[in-house]
Amino acid sequence: MSDTVLKLQKVTKVFGGKGDMPSIEIFKGMDFAIKRNEVLGLFSPSGSGKTTFLQIAGLLDSKFSGNIYINGSRVDTKNDLQTSIIRRKNIGFVFQFHHLIQEFSALENVIFPLLFDGRKKKIATQKGQYLLEKVGLVNRMNNRPAELSGGEQQRVAICRAIINEPALLFADEPTGNLDQSTTTKVMRFLIELIKEHNISAIIASHNPIISKLVDKSAKIVDGKVVYS
Ligand SMILES: Nc1ncnc2c1ncn2[C@@H]1O[C@H](COP(=O)(O)OP(=O)(O)OP(=O)(O)O)[C@@H](O)[C@H]1O
Ligand SMILES: [Mg+2]
Repeated sequence: MSDTVLKLQKVTKVFGGKGDMPSIEIFKGMDFAIKRNEVLGLFSPSGSGKTTFLQIAGLLDSKFSGNIYINGSRVDTKNDLQTSIIRRKNIGFVFQFHHLIQEFSALENVIFPLLFDGRKKKIATQKGQYLLEKVGLVNRMNNRPAELSGGEQQRVAICRAIINEPALLFADEPTGNLDQSTTTKVMRFLIELIKEHNISAIIASHNPIISKLVDKSAKIVDGKVVYS
């Protein structure tokens, strides 16, 4: 099997252009590939297209031209239902704001994707506890998000993104609202879990601390991904 997990081919993305809205071309025939187990940091200025890139690569935005392949299979030509299944099986997301379910405990939030996938509660619970232990939160697993600090909530969101062992993990400013020392702690947990589960990850951020922890760094310059 090829070592390339995700490949984008000739991706072009334009915003606007309707009515008197000027059009802006965010990507212009962009090619991109990421290998198994690679952790890539995306560090370019605000407005350069990091979030747009993650949305396209994460199959959350279908309004673009070009081809996307996951593990060699074309995935951008599928219908909405097929796309959501591909996403659920292959991709985990961590956002700046964690979007945890407030009525659920930390553990329930973490195991939710597995239960949704029809897995047995006992197995899901064991796995959820293992992950929460890894990130130092097993003694907080019955607390609800509102009872956890921002860094703790983000660690729960990381466990939730990883529990179904996606091939790919996309993180968009995962530590955007955390202080520096919490950022380092959360990022170490994130990268440790990524490596342990053989995940390929793209982490978009403005934080220079993160650039020291990733395998490779890149920027989006003039609509293309450029390695630095
Ligand atoms: N829905 C939209 N309609 C029109 N323009 C948009 C839309 N979403 C994003 N843009 C524009 O596309 C460009 C890239 O935005 P994007 O959010 O991808 O940047 P970013 O690199 O993630 O920035 P930041 O670091 O601030 O999060 C920006 O100029 C933005 O204004
Ligand atoms: Mg962004």
